[in-house]
Order: sequence, then structure tokens, then C-alpha cells
Amino acid sequence: MRGILRAIASVPAPSIPGLRSRYWRAERRAIRGIYVFDDSESADAFARDPLRDPASSLLGNFESESAGEIPRTDVFDRPIFIIAAPRAGSTLLYELLVRSPQLFSLDGESHGPIEGIAALHPATRAFESHRLADIDADDSAVAALRAGIVADVRDHRGKRFLAYDPASRPARIRLIEKTPENSLRVPFLQRAFPDARFIFLHRDARQNVSSLAEAWNHDGFVNIPELPGWDRHRWCFLLPPEWRALNGRSLSDVSAFQWRAANQFATDDLEALPRDRWTSIDYNELVAAPGQVVQKLCDFLGIDFDAQLADALSRPLPLSSTTITPPSPIKWRSNRSLDRSSLEGLGPIEGRLRNLMVRATPPRKEPARVAAVRFACFVDDATTDSAPRRAAGTIVNPSFQFQLGATVPIPLVRRARCRERFLADHPILWVEDPATRVLCPFFARRSQVRTLLGLQAGETPRPFDSPLLEASLEAAGILTTASELDARREAGETLVGRARKDLGDDRFCKLPSLIHPLQIRTLAAYYRRLIESGWVLGDDQVERRHGWHNESVARFFHHQLTDFVSRVAGEPVKPAYSYSSAYRGSAALGAHMDRRQCEYTLSLLVDHSSASSPDPWPLWFLGPRGKVSVTLQPGDAVLFRGCELPHWRDAAPEDQDQIMLLFHWVPSDFAGVLD
Ligand SMILES: [Fe+2]
Repeated sequence: MRGILRAIASVPAPSIPGLRSRYWRAERRAIRGIYVFDDSESADAFARDPLRDPASSLLGNFESESAGEIPRTDVFDRPIFIIAAPRAGSTLLYELLVRSPQLFSLDGESHGPIEGIAALHPATRAFESHRLADIDADDSAVAALRAGIVADVRDHRGKRFLAYDPASRPARIRLIEKTPENSLRVPFLQRAFPDARFIFLHRDARQNVSSLAEAWNHDGFVNIPELPGWDRHRWCFLLPPEWRALNGRSLSDVSAFQWRAANQFATDDLEALPRDRWTSIDYNELVAAPGQVVQKLCDFLGIDFDAQLADALSRPLPLSSTTITPPSPIKWRSNRSLDRSSLEGLGPIEGRLRNLMVRATPPRKEPARVAAVRFACFVDDATTDSAPRRAAGTIVNPSFQFQLGATVPIPLVRRARCRERFLADHPILWVEDPATRVLCPFFARRSQVRTLLGLQAGETPRPFDSPLLEASLEAAGILTTASELDARREAGETLVGRARKDLGDDRFCKLPSLIHPLQIRTLAAYYRRLIESGWVLGDDQVERRHGWHNESVARFFHHQLTDFVSRVAGEPVKPAYSYSSAYRGSAALGAHMDRRQCEYTLSLLVDHSSASSPDPWPLWFLGPRGKVSVTLQPGDAVLFRGCELPHWRDAAPEDQDQIMLLFHWVPSDFAGVLD
């Protein structure tokens, strides 16, 4: 039946006196043709001789009935159009929203009422494209379109508007509609429905193009069965302008072309409208937090978030009715029909889509008091226990280097960058953790220099005058033993092995106790001082967050972790940018995926405080095995593939503050900008 439907729908409506539009819809055991006439005489005349429509001859038995007279076509109150590339999730969103008793729909897509108007059918327009502009919405087309929709629009229970008793028929209806071709038709819809509201749903290029390429191989998505001038004959999904240039190219290229055209036209056209007329959402945000997204959309559309919607959202999201295989955020990785080179060149439009999700905040200047805050992790804070262990075979850590003045020891020059915000004029004891190879700076007092000058890397230390200093050096790992070093090295190897496997399987891995606890406590104190000094609250993404791009102390630790992250990643990486964030109570982070500069993201928890909740605030991922949350303790980190996994944080308790550092890396051969 689907084949017949496709065949008859590919022929424009015939020229019959009084016929405004004709379109088809598939029903359970029949194909229904909807014919909209100017008057009942024309309709009656056609009913007596339906074979005047050549398409009728393709059908077997048929019967006709009158749906009734269209009372008026000005019934549309702020109609809602979901604008999305095909396979971007619009069916899922539509099937959620259409449960609202406040909305009417065509119970499907609106190819029919638009292409049922002969002048707008692609065949009439020499198959140039599915693009329709405002000039195509002349009075006659608009009247036919409105009448065509009224003829078949129905409420959430499926009752047709025309089937209502005229006395109880609503005077105005809220239409919701989704047809991917409409991503090329925003100016047309805007002219036809001047108070329309648009929901722009977009999806990550890799996921979306992969899904398109997969669907091109399925019969069910053929849109034009015989497209003149197309070497593959059958065309699936929307037909963008200049499609002829795709002859001879792979399905992956064709899919990428369709994704780009749909999103480019939609963005260009929507950005020309007042901002209160449209909103945008990301597919991954919808899948990760459907309740929040639908609530936000209800607010935007001015409809109630009622019991039916709440009920639909209280259960796990159903697979949309057009799903081929169950979705996963990283399904594209294993899709053989996707040639990754097809995705090259989509960067600019991906960037525009990402910017739609970002709140614009005015540039601001950090207060002078913030600029004055300095980082210093004093070694004598490493312990309050004044009784050193004095283990047999104690040596000075072989990686130890002593910095007496402002100049870093020569062997560390390249490794100890980004020290601008370190407290000046203090000696620094440098030591490397054998597990992570992270180099830590422990600050010393001038009064301790005489003792510390006696420390020689790899040698047995001389006896100490100060037991507290000796215990502190032990706690900092500067005094150690060969067996401790071996154990630590081995623990590092075990951690790397486990983390690498988890990162491969789940696309994220937990990394406990990554940085020395004293460094973490000092970082917490440092960022708290920044907040007390007036660190501005609110950044582009989160209202209740202090954020700092490439803050220098974070950058220092970012560089330190590069070697470790390379080991876990199984490939050499280089730092992209870091982001120091201090979330304040009630903060929330919408579901999103990161940009290309965030191939590997490490989120290091520095501090967490809450009177009401002992547990740190969870970070959620939508992974290959579904939704999963991760909670960390200060000093722990989670490393994840931020460009592949949608991730988010639900609203934090009001009294919960959390400081974390985000570090991003890219493969070392990455050629783009790193910021
Ligand atoms: Fe992120």
C-alpha cells in the first residue's frame, strides 16, 4: 500500500473545475483521498465521476463520502511547526506533544495539504526542490492550504474537526505539525500563518547523518519514487535545492548534504524572525531530559503541561514510530554506511547550532581583588601529625627538584608552565606522583630552606630537626621508599588499564584520587577565595555558575594530566582548553554534547559543600547502555568522550555548592583551534 501511496502522491492534483487541493493519507486498510473544492456543486460533480483524477485509476475499489463543509479557515491560533532535518527526532517530539488535549494535528505529516496544491507540488516545479519561499504563499495557495488542513485536522483523540457538532466545535484550534521538508519552508509557513510558532529541533551531525544514511537503504523512506535526473531514481527524504550536484556521490554524502541544507535554511530563516516566535532544542537534550524540555516548550507555546503530557513523560521514552534500530548516542561509530569524510565541511553550521543553545552574556571584567588571589600549597599543611613514620629505607623521591628562587629548575621548564598565579617569592618543592606522573608544587617557608637544601633526589635524607616538617614531606610523597614508589607505579598501571577499558566500552571512566589531596584542598581554598573576591556569577551556559576559561592554575594541572590522559586514551593527546567552574546552589546544566575541542573531557571535583545532602551532585550521561549517573568525591575525576555522550546535571539542591575543573584534550594531530 505504501508503494501505491507513493506513486499516486508523486502526481500533482489534476486540473478539475473548483478543485483547490487533493492529497492522500494512509489508513489501516485503505488510502483516503481528501479533495477540497470551492463549492459543493464542484464536489458533487467530481463525486459522480471520480475517474477524472487519473490517480484514482491506480486504486482498486473505492467509495466516496463527503467530509462536510469547511465553515471557515481562520481557525488557526498560533499554529506550531516542528522544524527539523529528517531523522533528527521530530517524530519522537511530535508524538510526545500531540498527546496534549489542547492540540490538534493531522495525525501525520503535512506533505499532503502542501503538495496537494498543484502549484506547490515538486513535479509542477520541475523537481527543483522542496523549498518554498514567502512568494509561494499567495492568497490562493494560503486559502487552499488552510482549507486542506481544516478538512482533515483532528483532536488528540482522533476526532476530526469537521466531525464536531457545529455548536460544540472550537472557534480556534492550536495545530501542531511536523514535516521535515518544512525545514526548507519556514518563510512560506510564516507568510501562510503569520502568528505561527516554530520549534527548531536539531541533532548532532554525526548521529543525524548516520541515521539518514542508514535509512536511505530502507524502502520505507522513499519520498520521490522516480526523480527525473537522479541516477539512483528513488529519492528519500527532503529534496534540497541543487540536489543534482549529488549525482554519482555516496549516500553518506547525500545525507550530509540534506542535513546541511535542512539546518542551514532553518537557521537562516528562523533567525530572520522575532525571537519570541521560535525556540530551539537539541535532540540529545530531549532524550536526556524530556520532562524539562517539554515543560520549557509548553511555557514557550503557552500551553498547559497537563496530566496527559505528565503521564507520557513519567514513563521511559518510547521508540519513535520511525525507528529502524534502537538509538544510541554512538551508534554512528559502527555505521558502515557513514563515510566520515562526508562530515567535513559541516563545522560552520554545527557551530551555529551550538550557538543557538548558548545564552549570550555581556563581556565583563574581573574585579581587581580577583586578579590578586594567588595559589600556594604549603608542604607543612600536608599533615598535622607531628610524628614521622621514619620507615626503613626512606629516600628522597627520585623526581624531587628544589626551586629556591623565581626560576623553575631547568629539567622542569617545559613541564611546569602556567605558574602566573602561583604565590611569588617562595621556595617550591617539585615532586612527581609515580602513578599519574603529575608534577605537584609544594611551597615551603623561607625558614625551612636550610633543611630543605639538604634533600638530594634518590638519596637517604639527613636527620630532621623538625618532626612536623619530616612528617609533612612524607605525606607529600617527597620522602618515600623504593617499595612505596613501586606500589604507586603499579597502582597507576592498574588504574590506566581499567580506565582505558571503561572508556572504550562506556565512553567514560572514573578516576579516583587523581591529584594529591593537599593540592585539592588548596585548590578548593583558592577558588573559594576567588568567589569571595567577586568572581562574576553566571556564564554563557549556566546562570548559577562562576566560570573562567583557561584560568591559569587550572591550566597548570591541565598540562600535568596530559600524559596520564594519553595513557588512558591510548593515543597521544594535547590540551585544548580548560574551564574552572564553581556551581552555586540550584544550578543546573542542560543536556548537551561538547564541541570538537573536547574530544576527551576530564571533570575533576575540587570541592563540594551542602548542609542537606552528603552526596556530591551527580553528572549524568546518556551512554551506549542508557542513562547513568556518576558521583565523585573531592579529588576524583571522570574522563569522558564529551563530543559523543550527551551529558547534563539536574538542578542542584539550593544549599549545594560545587567546584570543579573541566579539562579538555584533543588527539595530538588535531589541526583546528584549541580554544
Ligand atoms: Fe560539556
